[in-house]
Amino acid sequence: MSAPLWTLDAFLAATRGEARGEPQAEITGISIDTRTILPGEAFVAIVGDRLDGHDYVAKALEAGASLALVARHKLVDLPQDGRYVVVDDPLEALRNLGRAARARTSARIVAVTGSVGKTGTKEALRLALGRSGKVHASAASFNNHWGVPLTLARMPEDTEFGVFEIGMNHAGEITPLVQMVRPHAAIITTVQAVHLEFFGSVEKIAQAKAEIFLGLEPGGLAILNQDNDQFDLLTFLAKTAGVERIQTFGEAEGSDALLENYAVQTGSSSIQARVLGQEITYKIGAPGKHLVRNSLAVLLAVCELGGDLALAGLALAELSAPKGRGAQTRLKLPGGEAVLVDESYNANPASMRAALSVLGGMQAAAPGRKIAVLGDMLELGDAAGQLHADLIGPVEDSGADLVYCSGPLMRALWERLPREKRAVYAEHSEALTERLKDELRPGDIIMIKGSLGSRMGPLVDALKQEYPAADEMASA
Ligand SMILES: Nc1ncnc2c1ncn2[C@@H]1O[C@H](COP(=O)(O)OP(=O)(O)OP(=O)(O)O)[C@@H](O)[C@H]1O
Ligand SMILES: [Mg+2]
Repeated sequence: MSAPLWTLDAFLAATRGEARGEPQAEITGISIDTRTILPGEAFVAIVGDRLDGHDYVAKALEAGASLALVARHKLVDLPQDGRYVVVDDPLEALRNLGRAARARTSARIVAVTGSVGKTGTKEALRLALGRSGKVHASAASFNNHWGVPLTLARMPEDTEFGVFEIGMNHAGEITPLVQMVRPHAAIITTVQAVHLEFFGSVEKIAQAKAEIFLGLEPGGLAILNQDNDQFDLLTFLAKTAGVERIQTFGEAEGSDALLENYAVQTGSSSIQARVLGQEITYKIGAPGKHLVRNSLAVLLAVCELGGDLALAGLALAELSAPKGRGAQTRLKLPGGEAVLVDESYNANPASMRAALSVLGGMQAAAPGRKIAVLGDMLELGDAAGQLHADLIGPVEDSGADLVYCSGPLMRALWERLPREKRAVYAEHSEALTERLKDELRPGDIIMIKGSLGSRMGPLVDALKQEYPAADEMASA
């Protein structure tokens, strides 16, 4: 049997907790969610905005949790015969457990932040480093004040490579997270106008992302996007933070990971690059130039952490676009097939442009058409109207034949669309459902994108329900 993630003794020492009842001696994992908890895992009762984990303790224990990590003042409301580790503040205890996990491992660590592309880059690193050793990486987008310590606390002692996604909505959030993670390499994928309503300017976003430098290990490496408008500012901020080593990726001459050539196919891209002086040709199993760029950062990190560059290149062929973030599905229609590109999980000006550029690179089989179904991009503040109207250029470049728009903000784009490209505008996405089902013809490519709150996902589901999938092309 492999070693448990934590022994009870180590868990008590790290959390500075007190055992009550009879917690199990071996802890096989850490969970904060009773819907997914497995027997043997420790349940950490976190108090969130909407829910209090203490309300789920009884359920966790019934499901076979080795123990529940709970707040002392909540004990009176919990089952008397439970298995507990008691602390003042379970979230602080989780952070302490995370710090202890970081301290006990000799893993080489990379942290990823950026306005877009964090999860995609994190998953690419997981794959690329996986060919060189044992990897531990964040689940989903676990990148915030509980996601990062949870990921750390879940890191087995014998991990060889740790991959952490670090996110933020406000200035000051990254600093404490990266100081727990203490990466050897830090990637900033790109800085873009995202969450503008909390920041006011792209430069302020850059400053907040640059907090990632404050947790770099001494001698650590910053990996920066040379083609990004904020590159000079980020370089300055890295140096100001005392970072001595910076490597760059992009198309600009002199980039440490230089994109020399690439071709985008349906469902994949082929790349030729020069990484730290070495020529490498590889494939990524998901389409889009944005993913090509991110992959250059991945390869620099692999080299920095001591992984094998050639094996990393081979591994990237297995990358796939996740559901809601570019996954492509062939739908069976009477008389042929159509391709559905599911981008319904999120949208901001950067990822909207990236998705429209992927659509631009795809070829609809005649007489099929390219159809874009676009929902509001949220959290953009005062600039929102303009940022929606500005999509007209990328929409034209994508070669979309028909555009559906939904949401009050998308009206700004709708009004700029040439008449022949206008399909339907609706205030709420739901109103488009029946029209889209009727619209689809064999040979069409349909791309659906919007912020999660714009509810474009149900449109994807409705099409998938109406037309069975021929097969999944690039989805996970
Ligand atoms: N460098 C990039 N430039 C523009 N768009 C990108 C880039 N990288 C990824 N994207 C697109 O952005 C979207 C979000 O990607 P991803 O989930 O990796 O981002 P994230 O930063 O983890 O987001 P979140 O903040 O929701 O966790 C996807 O649709 C993806 O295709
Ligand atoms: Mg993410």
